[in-house]
Amino acid sequence: CGIVGYIGKRDVAPLLLEGLQRLEYRGYDSAGVVITSPKATGLKMVKAKGRVRDLEARVPKRFTGTTGIAHTRWATHGAPSDENAHPHLDGENKVAVVHNGIIDNASELRAKLIADGVEFRSETDTEVLTHLIARSTAEKLEDRVREALRHIEGTYGIAVLHADFNDRIVVARNGSPVVLGIGEKEMFVASDVAALVSHTRQVVTLDDGEMATIKADDYRTYTTEGSRTSAEPTTVEWEAESYDMGGHDTYMHKEIFEQADAVDRVLRGRIDDRFSTVHLGGLNLDAHDARKVRRVKILGCGTSYHAGMIGAQMIEELARIPADAEPASEFRYRNAVVDPDTLYVAVSQSGETYDVLAAVQELKRKGARVFGVVNVVGSAIAREADAGVYVHAGPEVCVVSTKCFTNTTVAFGLLALHLGRIRDLSVSDGKRIIAGLRQLPAQIEQMLEREDEIKKLAQEFAEAKSMLFIGRVRGYPVAREASLKLKEVSYIHAEAYPASELKHGPLALIEPALPTVAIVPDDDLLEKNRAALEEIKARSGKILAVAHQEQEKADHTIVVPKNEDELDPILMGIPLQLLAYHTALALGRDIDKPRNLAKSVTVE
Ligand code: G6P
Repeated sequence: CGIVGYIGKRDVAPLLLEGLQRLEYRGYDSAGVVITSPKATGLKMVKAKGRVRDLEARVPKRFTGTTGIAHTRWATHGAPSDENAHPHLDGENKVAVVHNGIIDNASELRAKLIADGVEFRSETDTEVLTHLIARSTAEKLEDRVREALRHIEGTYGIAVLHADFNDRIVVARNGSPVVLGIGEKEMFVASDVAALVSHTRQVVTLDDGEMATIKADDYRTYTTEGSRTSAEPTTVEWEAESYDMGGHDTYMHKEIFEQADAVDRVLRGRIDDRFSTVHLGGLNLDAHDARKVRRVKILGCGTSYHAGMIGAQMIEELARIPADAEPASEFRYRNAVVDPDTLYVAVSQSGETYDVLAAVQELKRKGARVFGVVNVVGSAIAREADAGVYVHAGPEVCVVSTKCFTNTTVAFGLLALHLGRIRDLSVSDGKRIIAGLRQLPAQIEQMLEREDEIKKLAQEFAEAKSMLFIGRVRGYPVAREASLKLKEVSYIHAEAYPASELKHGPLALIEPALPTVAIVPDDDLLEKNRAALEEIKARSGKILAVAHQEQEKADHTIVVPKNEDELDPILMGIPLQLLAYHTALALGRDIDKPRNLAKSVTVE
């Protein structure tokens, strides 16, 4: 979900709607806006099920004001509808609340309020907060919000507007991001800097347990207990233009085509040719400590988990440290044994995914050392981790991740090389990997030149009901990610399997109507992979190979430039991002905002 708010002198509705457009990737099933101004006596609100453009169509002509808050929603409690859209008002239409997160004890609080005679207008957990604030008799709005929050168990990022205190917006954060944007005689608030950067790059990011009051010419931050906190603004590094579509029809297309530059950025300034190693500034791991690491455990969700699988293999291969990746969502619930000699690595593009954040908190509570591999600077996971590596991919707006996946795998390449060179990786192997890393941007460019060929293939694949993706060892995580990409964006069912497991089950599925995409790198497993292709061909299955050389058994081969064996997985997924993209395009899908999904899942 996304929150945006403004207080100043400008006409607020267009500003808020523009902010919502920029946040829409965070949720897009309904949206709403509430406004007021210093002279107004009440609040004016419009809400709509659907996209921000549906909301815009409903905004009346004379919807003017200079203060307001708005929201775009990804439903958790209550189906998408006008009523369930935020903001939520109390019975007297005085208090308006927008909320990201989940209130765990909402049904209990709701029952109590109903017993007290409160009438609810929606099925959301958020409405509870509105009534609690409205019932407080404290003098100041800040104290009313604080009192209400005392009843709440769960996570929240909230913004509150009150008709009787219309010179301010009060916000609070616990587990869901809130950022203040500091302007000239105007202030902004949002759940994501994306909504702010076209107006100001001076921001204050709230910590969990922090609240803030913003007025047109002033802001202050304090804890939920009321003691003042210092909040010096920092400057956002991403430019406003990097959030624009830049001539592409979709963000996904733009982000796929940004990958050469993005990889260049993650490598920049980090390679140390003198020792054939890398320099990772954010990693406070000296050689002595690095030698003590006996295992590496990588945790992430979705695409980041897949990038972690590739990372684990690179760490094992280059640093010879046992390493594996696991979905953070699983790890945090299985009472895992936390081992002092294990290095835990949390991977997250947004740095906000709740399951990953909760895993990090649990690990830290148990005394573990946790590193972050994160894209968004200053995000919750980046701050919570003991140290980390930023992946510097720039903002990623399309819900399905492409450039962040690639940059995360490259960041893992750097981390693996770093650990390797402290342990057993030789200088010459270090040089070899560095040369391979440096080749990546040009090889990505080469890959992307093949778009037309892939587009033609996609026309055929768009007719498939289901697809199988296979790969072996280095190719397996590539198959996993390619299968996820296709599912997310085209809604075609897809399954990924280790090629070695084919004969233990999935072979039963093979028939002409089920195409297989096979990842076939030119490494020591080439012959084994070829055997799998034969097994499929013998059952009349259609095959698309992604390989370093033409595959005789395949109906079509996308030939990918060869890099070092260990780094091959980084490149092999790129043509399959394009395949997913063009298949979805052929099917007329909503590419940047696939149904039912959201970019950052900040709830459980
Ligand atoms: C959501 C998104 C996925 C993403 C996952 C993890 O499910 O739809 O595209 O891979 O979250 O996000 P993160 O920001 O932690 O990498």
